[in-house]
Amino acid sequence: MPAGHILALDQGTTSTRAILFRAPDLAPVAVAQQEFQQHYPASGWVEHAPEDLWDTSLAVMREAIGKAGLRPEDIAGIGIANQRETTLVWDRRTGKPIHRAIVWQDRRTASACAALREAGHAEAVAAATGLLIDPYFSATKVTWLLDNVAGARAAAERGDLAFGTVDSFLLWRLTGGRVHATDATNAARTMLFDIRAGRWDAGMCALHRVPMSMLPEVRDCAADFGTTDPALLGAAIPVLGIAGDQQAATVGQACFRPGMLKSTYGTGCFALLNTGDAPVASRHRLLTTIAYQLAGRRTYALEGAIFVAGAAVQWLRDGLGVIKDAAESGRLAAQADPAMRCYLVPAFVGLGVPHWDAEARGAIHGLTRGTGPADFARAALESVGYQTRDLLEAMQADIDGVAGAAGGDSVLRVDGGMVASDWAMQFLADILGAPVDRPVVRETTALGAAYLAGLRAGLCPPPEEFAAAWRLERRFAPAMAEAERASAYAGWQRAVRRTLSAGY
Ligand code: G3P
Repeated sequence: MPAGHILALDQGTTSTRAILFRAPDLAPVAVAQQEFQQHYPASGWVEHAPEDLWDTSLAVMREAIGKAGLRPEDIAGIGIANQRETTLVWDRRTGKPIHRAIVWQDRRTASACAALREAGHAEAVAAATGLLIDPYFSATKVTWLLDNVAGARAAAERGDLAFGTVDSFLLWRLTGGRVHATDATNAARTMLFDIRAGRWDAGMCALHRVPMSMLPEVRDCAADFGTTDPALLGAAIPVLGIAGDQQAATVGQACFRPGMLKSTYGTGCFALLNTGDAPVASRHRLLTTIAYQLAGRRTYALEGAIFVAGAAVQWLRDGLGVIKDAAESGRLAAQADPAMRCYLVPAFVGLGVPHWDAEARGAIHGLTRGTGPADFARAALESVGYQTRDLLEAMQADIDGVAGAAGGDSVLRVDGGMVASDWAMQFLADILGAPVDRPVVRETTALGAAYLAGLRAGLCPPPEEFAAAWRLERRFAPAMAEAERASAYAGWQRAVRRTLSAGY
């Protein structure tokens, strides 16, 4: 394969990162990262300033290019991975957003979603989009913007407004307003997209009162998305790959075979099981989604989504102040009294799979006079393991029930910031009763985005060859006794039941 460089942009929930990779082996050459502000204007609301998303993206891309000592014209392509569902609406004429971005975690449309469910739309929504009706997805956020920003609905109906997830907004800005497009994986998270037919769904758009003129064009994950405005990065660089961050991580983990499973521990935790060419409808409240679309062919996944994983560690640091940095959480957890069983149910923004309880709020169960910071740290890390088990059990039940469906490999490939904690990964293997594989390259989201762009640029090999290069760094094997596993998990399930909003 010819050599070259690919720039991956990973625009996440709390930070934006750019990694420059050398193709074809995709060795990282330079990294740049910036955190940005979270806005919480009301209980359960989460917003991002669009200019923060844009400014940090541009800054980290410039920094990574500079650090690598490359000329912008030496970069063969850009791949974008992004926080999914987060919703932006902007004016096509000025490029100015009409409001802050409404973040995927935002719960302001919980009652609108309840009304849609009560009106009996759940089945039609699931059949078309593979999703459950929940504020998590973009559609009700777009409706909220059109109904609450003065003049927005009329402007949208005149065709003056554009909707996009973060990828689409950044692409619009990067191409100087010339390209309004997205990829199939991001489209699949809007609740407006027919995941079987691979096109926007007129019925869903009518249900959510979203004019179809606002929607971006949907392309493959490895495709021509236009070139950057030369004034931005110093050259017209082609954008050749886009995928939602979890789907990019699925690609980066080389989960190309049906039955392969990855879980990414960022702000939240998202596990995707490759189910192959056919979408599998979940009977256990998982999401059916598009894993990737290459050469017009869609590969599907079952997804379990947990809203708070790394965010629980952030809360230990920023909310409680019991640790100074995330790396301390494992050390502190290891000091906890093993006889003490304290459960943190981190329903800070409700609960996702399998409960889908937008109104639930976090709780700690099992406090005693002896509970201290170490027990909080342990409970926070354990909550991630317990939640992962919740969603893998749902996945297993779905797979068991589908004749001919791809069975799980029962090995979990993990990535994301939290997997640096050996303590958390060992607990995960223990509570799952299954091996957990941590790869050498943990930046799998950026790697996946780079691979998609590299594939399109002709610098990276086909998926099977890329998969053969995946390397294991460490396997965590389960070591917990079965009886202990069962009783710890039963305690978690009791704690969750007490936390669900219906329980109050
Ligand atoms: O669905 C939301 C997800 O894409 C966010 O990912 O890595 O920013 O927590 P992350």
